[in-house]
Amino acid sequence: GKSGYDHFMLKEIHEQPRALRQCLRGRVGELTGEVDLGDLGDLTPRAVQFVACGTSYHAALYATQLFQQAGIPAQAFLASEYTTSTPPIGDALVVGVTQSGETADTLSALREARRRGARTLAVTNTVGSTAARECDHALYIRAGPEIGVAATKTFASQLAALNLLTLGITSVDDDREVISGLRDLPSAVQEILDDSVAREVAETYRDAESYFFIGRGLNYPVALEGALKMKEITYKHAEGFAAGELKHGPLALVTENTPVFATVTGDDEMARKTIGNVKEVEARDAPVVAVTDGESDVERYADHVLEVPDTHPRVAAVVANVQLQLVAYHTANMLGRSIDKPRNLAKSVTVE
Ligand code: M6R
Repeated sequence: GKSGYDHFMLKEIHEQPRALRQCLRGRVGELTGEVDLGDLGDLTPRAVQFVACGTSYHAALYATQLFQQAGIPAQAFLASEYTTSTPPIGDALVVGVTQSGETADTLSALREARRRGARTLAVTNTVGSTAARECDHALYIRAGPEIGVAATKTFASQLAALNLLTLGITSVDDDREVISGLRDLPSAVQEILDDSVAREVAETYRDAESYFFIGRGLNYPVALEGALKMKEITYKHAEGFAAGELKHGPLALVTENTPVFATVTGDDEMARKTIGNVKEVEARDAPVVAVTDGESDVERYADHVLEVPDTHPRVAAVVANVQLQLVAYHTANMLGRSIDKPRNLAKSVTVE
């Protein structure tokens, strides 16, 4: 059942701390701080290709950055495009990111990868799924069953599992910081779950026709996912952009009627550049909602602030996404939408 929540989606949003603990349990050594993924630790790919759809593709985009930071070339493909292109395989590991393990586009991309001689790994929530059975290896995200069509806890768990995957098969200097950030992740999510700002933001902008989401680096997939969640459950136009792309076209759409959600964490060069973009939308009178850990001065340009605890950037991206899940949920709820079963959508898309 829904355990007292109005919708499975809200229940599953609130289950994220527990889902994340399950994902991490037994995989990060209590004393050593080493990541142990069993046999997967023996994989030594020279390159990694991800194939995935929808929310899982956003997780894949995030993961490419983790591998690149560890010096391993990585690319993410929309699974439905992988079969029609001819990407180089070389000695690549091809990773299918799929909650259900049954998405037709992802399964056929993985089959194509195997035909090309690649080793394959399924990152999935579902033991015994087709992806898990057909791939050479499987990494389970252990999020527990997700009933709402909108992926929420499984996205967070995918991000955690993909961090573990990177740590398990590569080694870089700041691994210890990432690991300690990951250990804090469940409580960092817990901290913001009962934040009332997401609901206030939803109330303020429930009648907007269009919502924009921007971010850079790890916060770029967060922007894409924020927009996907908003459009699928509110039925309103929402779009996510790499913050730097704004002035290459989308800025023409920005008016006082288009709230812009800007995720800015840390206070580095990337944060400063995104703040530059925030100033551009503010100058067009667009309402600005900053999703931030308060490290930079982005709050100065924001009408609302959705808080993220001060933590590792990889972890901050996960928490920022939870804030955006809450905004989408409350907006859809205020509009009376069919949140757990949005029109035209299915939980598992088994046709190409
Ligand atoms: O089961 P999968 O992860 O392969 O599903 C892929 C997409 O259909 C899925 O992530 C979809 O985009 C979400 N349900 C949207 O919330």
